[in-house]
Amino acid sequence: MLRVGMLTSGGDCQSLNAAMRGVAKALYNSRKDVKIIGFEDGYKGLIYGNYREMKESDFSGILTEGGTILGSSRQPFKLMRVPDENGLDKVEAMKSNYTKLKLDCIVILGGNGTQKTANLLREEGLNVVSLPKTIDNDLWGTDITFGFQSAVNVAANAIDCIHTTASSHGRVFIVEVMGHKVGWITLHAGIAAGADIILIPEIPYDIDKVIKKLNERSKKGKNFSILAVAEGAISKEDAALSKKEFKKKMADSPYPSVSYKIGHEIEERTGQEVRITVPGHMQRGGSPCPYDRVLSTMFGAEAARLIINKEYGKMVAMKNNEITSVPLSEVAGKLKSIDPECAIIKEAKLLGIGFGD
Ligand code: F6P
Repeated sequence: MLRVGMLTSGGDCQSLNAAMRGVAKALYNSRKDVKIIGFEDGYKGLIYGNYREMKESDFSGILTEGGTILGSSRQPFKLMRVPDENGLDKVEAMKSNYTKLKLDCIVILGGNGTQKTANLLREEGLNVVSLPKTIDNDLWGTDITFGFQSAVNVAANAIDCIHTTASSHGRVFIVEVMGHKVGWITLHAGIAAGADIILIPEIPYDIDKVIKKLNERSKKGKNFSILAVAEGAISKEDAALSKKEFKKKMADSPYPSVSYKIGHEIEERTGQEVRITVPGHMQRGGSPCPYDRVLSTMFGAEAARLIINKEYGKMVAMKNNEITSVPLSEVAGKLKSIDPECAIIKEAKLLGIGFGD
């Protein structure tokens, strides 16, 4: 009997179910004797022994369903070695449940923090195979993560909708897109939907440059402008602060997010009317786009292949358009951010899109 544990951890995304279905279908198809044990709400289920034995039918009809049939939660990596409020050693508890359930391996679907814990479990001797999930697309070791394209679709649709009303009213609109540390969704959605200015964490902005760009558009007779701004967009001035100074400044800020600060500055300096739209968690919801369905199904099949071949300690990945895998030890703790000098940024600049730099 092949006994495989499975869990989804961290912020959810649209094609987690499609990915789990991919793993399960490929396993059931390759072996007669497979038992999948699903842990509920991410690592929490593995720590506290909340699990259920899955049936083959549990994985049917979920290809197009958003969310995760197993539930998810955030269990910060930095707290994994810290005992819980009852003094429970979380890492020992996870190892003990893994052993008690006689698992051959555990499949872990998640983003950056999740991969760090997956690597910790590998170091502790567990057989782990992981899948790269996050709308943010910021996982090192893979060219793309599942969830990203679906989130780009939602964000691009939001900007599309804003276009018509921005033009009718001659206003400046800011659409705040998810991504605290990286600007992948903002960059792609901004280009896809024709944003005039794109502000991302990787390129700290100069508000004077943003205003200059808006004034240039006004001079050309354009009565509206659209900015796609990442949650984590940061001014040059703030980027120069220490982490501690920046945290304090944010805590004292009268604005709920960076978009409101930028919006206020634009209104003050251009006299143009500004509106702000935050699609927020809509970017993580709904049905996965066809690209993500294909990607996560292929990732799932590759995870099953690794399990059958006992190639543990790896995260499945996409590299140069090929499905492959990378050692978890290489992935853990590394962020894949946008290189400000990369081709897509250069091309966007050629089109006249402003990045505030
Ligand atoms: O990591 C995915 C993500 O959606 C980020 O883009 C966003 O900043 C964050 O999660 C939101 O987290 P939460 O769902 O915990 O509010």
